[in-house]
Order: sequence, then C-alpha cells, then structure tokens
Amino acid sequence: MLLPPLTQIPPTIAAVSDYEPFARARMSEQAWAYIAGGAADELTLRDNIAAFQRLRLRSRVLADLSGGTTRLQLFGQTFEHPIVLAPVAYQKLAHADGELATVLAAAAVQAGMVVSTQASIELEAIAREAQSPLWFQLYIQHDRDFTRDLVRRAEAAGYQALVVTVDAPVNGVRNREQRAGFVLPAGVEAVNLRGMRPLPTGSAQPDGGLLLGGPLLAAAPTWQDLRWLRSLTRLPVLLKGVMTGEDARRALEEGVDGIIVSNHGGRTLDTQPATISVLAEVAAALEGRVPLLLDGGIRRGSDVFKALALGADAVLVGRPYMFGLAAAGAVGVAHVVQMLRAELEVAMALTGCPDLRAIGPGSISPAHG
Ligand code: FNR
Ligand code: LAC
Repeated sequence: MLLPPLTQIPPTIAAVSDYEPFARARMSEQAWAYIAGGAADELTLRDNIAAFQRLRLRSRVLADLSGGTTRLQLFGQTFEHPIVLAPVAYQKLAHADGELATVLAAAAVQAGMVVSTQASIELEAIAREAQSPLWFQLYIQHDRDFTRDLVRRAEAAGYQALVVTVDAPVNGVRNREQRAGFVLPAGVEAVNLRGMRPLPTGSAQPDGGLLLGGPLLAAAPTWQDLRWLRSLTRLPVLLKGVMTGEDARRALEEGVDGIIVSNHGGRTLDTQPATISVLAEVAAALEGRVPLLLDGGIRRGSDVFKALALGADAVLVGRPYMFGLAAAGAVGVAHVVQMLRAELEVAMALTGCPDLRAIGPGSISPAHG
C-alpha cells in the first residue's frame, strides 16, 4: 500500500536526503526505479554525489557580510538564488499534480524552473502558473516539423529560454528499470508530444538489440540541427549535457547562449566522470563568454557553493525536488529548495562571501580539490 502525501513536514526532515524514505514509501517500485535509478551499475550516479562530498571548503573569518545577497542575472532575467529546478519528465509519477505542483513551489521559493519536453502536463498549463523564470527543455524530435511547432508553442506560452538536451539521443542502459519492469502507468504520458509523426515501424530502440546503422540514430540530432534551431528562435539557447572542453568550444562556435555541464544525473552513459570533476575543463574552454550551469549530485547547499566556486553561475537539481514532490507535493518541493538555499547562505557567510561573485576557487581547499 502506498501512503498518501504528507500534509505536514515532520521535524525529522532537516536535510534534502531526509526526504528519500518518505518519497520511497509513496511511490510504486517501478516509479521509484525510474526516478531514483541511473544507468547500468550506477557508478556515475553515485560519483556525482561522492565527488561533491570529497571537496572541502576554506572558511574565512571576520569578513564584512553586510548587504549580502544570493541574487544573480542570467540572460537579462533576475534569479533570487542560483538553484534551478532541472527538467524532469513525467512528474505525475511522483505526485498526482505533477508539474503543476512543481511550478507552484517554484513560485513560492522564487526558483527558476525548466519544463521537460516529456512533461506529463501541457506546457501551456504549466506556464500559466509560473511566477519565476521559466525555461523549456527541448529534445529535438525525429519529426523536425513537430519540433519547430513545439518551439513555437513554448515561445507563445512565454518560456524565456530553450534548454536543448543533447546527451540522450538513445536511452541509457537502465538495468534498474528493467529489473523493476518499469512502464509508464495509465494516465501518465508525454502529453506535449501528442500528434507527432511516429518513427517508422521497427525503429524504436530495440531492447537489447543493435543501434548502429539503424533508423533511430539516423534521425538523431547533429550540430547541423543545432544550427537550424539557433536560426529558428530568438530565445537564448542553452546546451545541456556537455562534458568536455571540445564540445563546449564547438557549442560556442555554433552560437549557443549558455552551457549546462550534465551527465543526465548518471542516467545515460555509466562511468562518465562526476560533473563537478569536469566543470573546470568546460569553464576553461568557455573563458566566461557565456553563462555556465551544472547539474548532477547536488544534495547540499554547500554543493551549490562548490559548483559556483569551480566556475558555475548557477546549478540545477533533479532528484532532490522529485523526492520532495513525491513526499509532500508542492510543499515538499519548496522545502527542498529552501533548505538548499539556507545551507548555501550558511556556506557563504562562513567563507566570507557576501554575494555569488565573491565565491571562487579560493573557497575550495587545494588539498582536497
Ligand atoms: C531527468 N533528467 C532529464 N533531463 C532532461 O533534459 N529532460 C528530461 O526529460 C529529463 N528527465 C529526467 C527524469 C528523471 C526521473 C530524472 C531523475 C532526471 C535529467 C535532469 O534534468 C538532471 O540532469 C539530473 O536529474 C541532475 O542530477 P540529480 O540532481 O538528479 O542528481
Ligand atoms: C530520462 C529522460 C526522459 O532521463 O530524459 O528519463
């Protein structure tokens, strides 16, 4: 029997990770495998978290912290703090209100939110409830006409940037999902992709079958499609899923407006490095020319701080708020962001950083960096 969502937050939930057992008890085994799991042996999933945990901070004393703030500007928009809700598909798996609960929470805690192409609620309905920065995550579909219409819908609904995810042209090897027998339950679907021309028969990703030379990869997006997309819209375009300096430089040449270092939360190619361990390489390639964001493994406000210290302008979180959503709906999501922000502010105060610009490599202990 699944428990109903919490109506009050118990005092035993003092940190983001405390939400996990409450979420677990409110989700089917299949939904849990989908949301909590990663690819193959989940080495990257674990490493994303462990790599943050290995870093140590350098505290500083007696700094003047008056007039402090966590505010920042990205693409001309004001963000009250650098914690953004990452695009996560099918949020009705976690809570009946799905993305509508998340957008309500985003408004309450003034967090930016990125809505997935595979959201389980219409993108227009989510946008109507938004009161904080709202971006749309785009998977370039094999049906390019449909993709263009999706971009037009996002523009018309008022989304303020496009996040083009490029690290998942095929599904990762999702062994945990396979073992749990995960399939989408009735009532949960990618409603924004309704009406799309189906892939030719026989081109769905074969379970255990072979990909190379097949129709799925023939339809996968390339740099040329990114160029096409760039010409299609005036919205800022961020590329999500960059893990190397080479790809970051190429993305700059193609005119992207921002980069998100991400390994998809360890859900695509297992044994990629932790995102925080490649951040410096990507930051060096970008030379500060466009905003740089990172996600993967952030479970503490001090992790947000570490990402900013090593070159990120802001971060995204995925599973932490999904656990909050499953446990307690919008209140849980808001509480997760609030805890991360409060912890970030403690880290800033104790490292002598009154604002985000003051956070730099000098805040990380070289012995552990
Ligand atoms: C994701 N992620 C993701 N990314 C994306 O671009 N589009 C999507 O639809 C999804 N869907 C999705 C579903 C679920 C259940 C998870 C957990 C993740 C990846 C997500 O945006 C982000 O990169 C990771 O979640 C970051 O890692 P953490 O914060 O979960 O450790
Ligand atoms: C996932 C896809 C939807 O990570 O991005 O499950």
